[in-house]
Amino acid sequence: MRNDSIIPILALFLIVLFSTGCPGNLATGGTTSHLMINYTAENGGSLFPCGCRIPLGGLSRRGGIINSESPYTQFTVDAGSFSGGNTGYDRFTAGWILQSYILIGYDVVNLGIRETVIPVSQLREWDGITQGMLISANLHDEFDMPVTRRSLVREVGGIRIGVTGITSEGRHPTGATEIPIVIDPVAPLMEVLSEFDEEDVDLVILLADMQDDDLNNVLSQVPGFDLVIQGRDFKADDTPVSTVLADGARIVKIGGFGKYLGRIRLDLNDAIEIIRDEVIQVSIETTLPAMSEITELLTQFRIELRGKRVEYLGDPSNPFQRSQSPEMVDILSGYTGQGFCVSCHRLYGFETEVTGHSTAWNILGDENKTNPECLQCHTTGYGVPTGMGDPYRDSHLQGVTCEACHGPAAEHVRERTSIDNEIDPSTMIPYVDSTGIPFTREVPAEVCLACHTEEWSPEFDYETWVERVRHETSAETIQVIDEETSWSFFMERNGDENAPGSDPE
Ligand code: HEC
Ligand code: HEC
Ligand code: HEC
Ligand code: HEC
Repeated sequence: MRNDSIIPILALFLIVLFSTGCPGNLATGGTTSHLMINYTAENGGSLFPCGCRIPLGGLSRRGGIINSESPYTQFTVDAGSFSGGNTGYDRFTAGWILQSYILIGYDVVNLGIRETVIPVSQLREWDGITQGMLISANLHDEFDMPVTRRSLVREVGGIRIGVTGITSEGRHPTGATEIPIVIDPVAPLMEVLSEFDEEDVDLVILLADMQDDDLNNVLSQVPGFDLVIQGRDFKADDTPVSTVLADGARIVKIGGFGKYLGRIRLDLNDAIEIIRDEVIQVSIETTLPAMSEITELLTQFRIELRGKRVEYLGDPSNPFQRSQSPEMVDILSGYTGQGFCVSCHRLYGFETEVTGHSTAWNILGDENKTNPECLQCHTTGYGVPTGMGDPYRDSHLQGVTCEACHGPAAEHVRERTSIDNEIDPSTMIPYVDSTGIPFTREVPAEVCLACHTEEWSPEFDYETWVERVRHETSAETIQVIDEETSWSFFMERNGDENAPGSDPE
């Protein structure tokens, strides 16, 4: 039976929908029980929503939805890549993510692509903290022992659920030590399935952080799963995906850096066979109610992060590279970098591409990229506190970015972020402006003329040239931009396939 019932709907209506839209008895037999499986993947290290035009969920609201009243027995899983990667900061945040997962009530978390770059000892420590919530059938340590348990059997609502998980290999820096070895999943999965047989498991779930080709290859060799939950790359896409394979296995996919929560309701007959399913992909908007325990936990996280600012973020006088992390706004001052701006003002990022200001860095050529005589006009905030200091370290300020025209915008970002999501302004560090340069909407002639001098830009004429950089003018030259391509275009140009999260490197 193919599932065609695709229902994009706000989570607030879910309860209503599920309680009124309950299927009656089907011709195939009496529906005796329902099971609601909540699933996520590709959380990618995110804790907070970003307040952007593609709002990136946030853990507190995910928790709010999962813990809202439901008439069904629930089971909650993460198919992998919950962490951001293996920097000190990434590992620090991953610990908080797992603590949130415990509060939310996750039953099991698969180690995914992003976790394959993290030392085995760290993964095992997390496994201890979560009391064995982590699984992986195909990650081994250097002694060829599984990194965590390979599978888990839980009984919920009288149904025995067996869960196992697999991943593909992530990109890791050469010379990375102690990281897990990714083995071929076929043999271990066969073993796990026969263990499930012996343990009288009713429902078998596979969590797979894998691309289609690899996964299909595995599934063609190892049949016997009832439900496969696949992590997938970021897509600005609200369409739930559910397919049913020839052997009856259902496959659902989820991703989105915490933006989405997948929910599949399985209707089971007396023999605990799936007779019907319904898939919903909830887009976690900032208007949804938050789970207060998580909001409190994450306030604690931010307070601890401040103490680790120097350790994780390098030079404290300088804003950080990972400028898209909303949890960082708190410690911003002065210049923040364009990555932050485009997380909300996405189209504007294009527009600066169009006027050529974004290429101002690259046209310098390697020989002049550290030449102070060029940097003042080919980077942002050169020589100003929090502005461009070291051109290679401060890569977020290379080129003529938003703040070169509009002025340092940290205060604006802090304001917008605290309005648009759950960061409580009263817990923020007071803002200190160390630049003395105003943030403005209008860009007066003096700002342009500081760079467009007689010497370098003899043709410059404010009246006519400002029209060329006004965003609505430059946008026309890019024609119709649909939401999804605009995002990926920008990411490509920045060499960052995984934006707005970070590379698992
Ligand atoms: C959390 C979301 C968010 C972030 C991040 C953000 N902005 Fe904004 N910004 C807004 C919103 C919302 C408005 C008001 C509505 C609009 O004009 O689109 C706004 C307005 C503006 C304005 C017009 C101000 C005015 O007084 O009318 C400028 C200029 C601007 N932003 C620049 C920036 C720059 C530069 C950055 C990056 C350093 C940035 N923004 C980051 C959300 C954001
Ligand atoms: C006072 C500001 C300023 C300084 C200093 C400056 N530039 Fe530029 N540069 C500009 C501006 C403005 C333009 C765009 C000119 C235009 O299109 O009218 C530009 C354009 C360029 C271009 C592309 C256009 C061309 O002329 O081929 C190159 C290459 C360039 N600059 C290199 C450099 C190098 C190398 C240095 C340092 C030795 C430097 N610039 C220093 C402001 C500056
Ligand atoms: C070369 C200078 C320049 C750069 C770079 C630039 N802007 Fe602007 N921006 C302008 C001008 C000029 C206006 C129009 C101001 C007015 O209303 O007169 C403007 C207006 C805006 C506005 C107000 C709404 C609107 O569309 O008029 C926002 C928001 C904004 N810019 C955001 C950004 C962001 C975000 C970036 C970086 C991705 C950016 N700008 C880069 C010059 C610039
Ligand atoms: C921080 C320095 C800086 C500021 C401020 C700045 N520009 Fe530029 N601008 C440049 C540089 C450098 C280039 C050349 C970039 C390139 O060719 O890659 C450039 C290129 C341009 C171009 C494209 C020129 C061409 O020949 O196609 C226009 C138009 C322009 N600027 C207008 C403006 C206007 C209008 C303002 C003020 C609202 C402004 N710029 C502010 C440095 C600046």
